[in-house]
Amino acid sequence: MMASEPAARAVAEEVGRWGSMKQTGVSLRYMMEFGSVPTERNLLLSAQFLRKELPIRIARRALELDSLPFGLSAKPAILKVRDWYLDSFRDIRYFPEVRNHEDEVAFTKMIKMIKVRHNNVVPTMALGVQQLKNEQFSSKKLPPGFDEIHGFLDRFYMSRIGIRMLIGQHVALHDPEPEPGVIGLINTKLSPIQVAQIASEDARSICMREYGSAPDINIYGDPNFAFPYVASHLHLMLFELVKNSLRAVQERYMNSDKDVPPVRIIVADGTEDVTIKVSDEGGGIRRSGLPRIFTYLYSTARNPPDIEGPSEGVTMAGYGFGLPVSRLYARYFGGDLQIISMEGYGTDAYLHLSRLGDSEEPLP
Ligand SMILES: Nc1ncnc2c1ncn2[C@@H]1O[C@H](COP(=O)(O)OP(=O)(O)OP(=O)(O)O)[C@@H](O)[C@H]1O
Ligand SMILES: [Mg+2]
Repeated sequence: MMASEPAARAVAEEVGRWGSMKQTGVSLRYMMEFGSVPTERNLLLSAQFLRKELPIRIARRALELDSLPFGLSAKPAILKVRDWYLDSFRDIRYFPEVRNHEDEVAFTKMIKMIKVRHNNVVPTMALGVQQLKNEQFSSKKLPPGFDEIHGFLDRFYMSRIGIRMLIGQHVALHDPEPEPGVIGLINTKLSPIQVAQIASEDARSICMREYGSAPDINIYGDPNFAFPYVASHLHLMLFELVKNSLRAVQERYMNSDKDVPPVRIIVADGTEDVTIKVSDEGGGIRRSGLPRIFTYLYSTARNPPDIEGPSEGVTMAGYGFGLPVSRLYARYFGGDLQIISMEGYGTDAYLHLSRLGDSEEPLP
């Protein structure tokens, strides 16, 4: 930290105080109802809420980043992330009270910048954890205490999803000409079939690039069915699931002259859930490996991407983040993700999305 000692101590004290305050969650439905009338007055109220809520959530993460086991807190990558959190905490805490439209515009600009500052948190955290894993645990099996790190990452990334949703929603409500049915980041008439098509195209083109060919994807369900959800979240989850399936099928059939079985996506609209199944015949996952697929940094990818490199390019597989992060996105709005495997045949991923949008935000 650049600040002088007493100033640094003052910030630390503030972080401690704010980090112990109660967080306030918001549901998808609440965001939708509130955002449906983005008047100047409502945007002002929203900014006032965020000015109080964001420092609480950010301080909590900063505190936790400081007290990780195995000396993880002292890793340069983790310190860097911690400093981003402290900078953002300071930016918001030192921002004067938001009283009128002008203040609100300035506040919105500031939190938009905070969101950009935190863009690379996930790979930077991964780098820190990977460094630790490489130097301290040479064997493939992780020591018992590593669960604690896994639990921390789950809380940390879940909280990040929430913070980015709050900021993103507030910023997006400023769009002067939103598409019909769109309220901030929420599309009240999102067609899962359409998102599945786009995510499939995106995943297939990466598969093409990496392997030179890509299995077909067949999508089943009512193309007119729509429900309220955040398109970018659904895209992210389906993209990750489809990539996994394409990779499994591709690797299994690459050197065979048998017909390549298509990946199948089935969309079902129930009263409580919208469920999307991504089904492949890529050989499945060993039962003994199943408990690990939702852990961070577990991957069977042969060439994990250089996590330290500046490349922003997406690859088929490598970090081992696809499944755990997708599950967090699903759970964020009250859904879930399950993986069922038949070893020797294939894998079914069930993505459950809560239709009602009433579930309260998980607040780690
Ligand atoms: N459909 C599938 N068929 C076979 N194995 C799978 C499937 N989905 C996941 N797996 C196994 O689970 C592991 C973890 O998946 P996950 O998506 O979390 O990470 P990854 O694909 O290795 O890397 P990335 O972070 O780039 O997604 C994979 O490496 C793979 O071994
Ligand atoms: Mg993956």
